[in-house]
Amino acid sequence: MNELNLVLLGPPGSGKGTQGERLQEDLDLPYWATGDILRAAVRDETELGKVAKEYMDRGDLVPDEVIVGAIAERIDSAEAADGFILDGFPRTVPQAEALAAKLEELGRALTAVLLIDASDEEVMRRLGGRRTCVENGHVFHIEFNPPEKQGVCDIDGSELVVRDDDEPEVIAHRLSTYHEKTEPLIEFYDHQSLLRRIDGGAAPDAVAEELRRTLATLKIEDDF
Ligand code: AP5
Repeated sequence: MNELNLVLLGPPGSGKGTQGERLQEDLDLPYWATGDILRAAVRDETELGKVAKEYMDRGDLVPDEVIVGAIAERIDSAEAADGFILDGFPRTVPQAEALAAKLEELGRALTAVLLIDASDEEVMRRLGGRRTCVENGHVFHIEFNPPEKQGVCDIDGSELVVRDDDEPEVIAHRLSTYHEKTEPLIEFYDHQSLLRRIDGGAAPDAVAEELRRTLATLKIEDDF
């Protein structure tokens, strides 16, 4: 397999970020999470961040044209020569079409879309207990993955906080946005035989193992 061009798809809180960081280590590929890119833009008060903030605080998606350019320029960089892992992009059918057009322009294509699925109830539990470090966005959970010292990031020692969009009413809105705008991508990619389903409701190590098995299967399919 020459390159590995992967998309992580799934509802908010299904564990895309948790698994994305592990995959990045395993595969040594660039990992771009649009939520992280947008939060950094908000923090740095860039033009992108100024536009994105009000949408993110409400739990709405930022407009397609705002995010498509940010991803297209990354895919078109030398860093992505061996492949990439996208987390949180695409999130709408127009974004998926823009991604396909950009890849076609570069003579490339997606290898697979990994759907990490979880029920709405599980999402509420996970996001309600998530704690995120202010410096680098490292993720913990008060019950499922607690830090050694309460309120302090194990990795860089910075403060752990509740993300603005992890308040219960915003979580509910993010979920309904997911069902309306992002879930149609499941059929979109299934039609193209790109979709691989992963049970995100299992424990983090079990999810990681299923992802590894799925990626190994892709390699075997490619060898024949
Ligand atoms: P984004 O940051 O992408 O949010 P999201 O998709 O809602 O995903 P999350 O980061 O909330 O969850 P996750 O799946 O990564 O779960 P995690 O691993 O942290 O986007 C934020 C906003 O940006 C959007 O609302 C939108 O406004 C905007 N945006 C982003 N991309 C956009 C786009 N393409 N177009 C338009 N707008 C865009 O895990 C969650 C918790 O569960 C953690 O506490 C973790 O420790 C725990 N956990 C993880 N796995 C497990 C497990 N297996 N068992 C138990 N606990 C687990």
